[in-house]
Amino acid sequence: MRFFLDSANPTTIKDTLAVLPLDGVTTNPTIIARDMPDYMSLGAELKLIRELCGDRLVFAQVTSEDADGMISDAHEIVRAVGGRVSIKLPAIPSGFTAAMKLAGEGISVTITAAYTTSQAILAAKCGADYVAPYISHIDNLSLDGPAVAVQMSDMLKLHGFGTTVLAASFRTASQVERVIAGGVGAVTVTADMLGLLMAHPGTRNEVDKFNENWHKRFDKPICEMLTVNASI
Ligand code: G3P
Repeated sequence: MRFFLDSANPTTIKDTLAVLPLDGVTTNPTIIARDMPDYMSLGAELKLIRELCGDRLVFAQVTSEDADGMISDAHEIVRAVGGRVSIKLPAIPSGFTAAMKLAGEGISVTITAAYTTSQAILAAKCGADYVAPYISHIDNLSLDGPAVAVQMSDMLKLHGFGTTVLAASFRTASQVERVIAGGVGAVTVTADMLGLLMAHPGTRNEVDKFNENWHKRFDKPICEMLTVNASI
């Protein structure tokens, strides 16, 4: 099970990777347009993301719409990011063609903005390492985003493909929990969502009780109290 951070904000990436064992960072044109600092060139931004990620996987997306343009974009992205990169290609006809060719060159590809199991099986046939359904966008069509992601994942396993479903675009913790419980192999979430996934008011209450009971008797943290100086 892989967990990625959906961000191109260098500060968010640095702070999040310092405190959680994530597997890398996902970006797309919307995220980069939103998060890239004004004072940076895109080349510098991608180089910095690589530095912050170390050898973790970085996802970056093409912006051309025709297959040749996508392939050129992909080669430039691979060069600019360096290291472990997966090239995101939208699940449109030219995206599948570009995926097939890039995968044939040994470049990792992700078919993204996928809505259906048909797109997922075609992504797998093209040699994609990942297929990324947009959970909330599927929900917004009055469909069931988490159920679609789980169905994609089950179908790829049933047919023996190594392609991993990378579920993206979450609005609620429950959506994330449903796809993970359903066996989806990877999710990408924002830093805010990570906060939601870790927090629970019940747990907070328990910690407050631990502290209260401890401080009724002791005035120091446990690390300052471990000397052995008494016998009974
Ligand atoms: O990784 C995909 C994600 O960034 C899309 O998010 O917020 O546009 O649904 P959103």
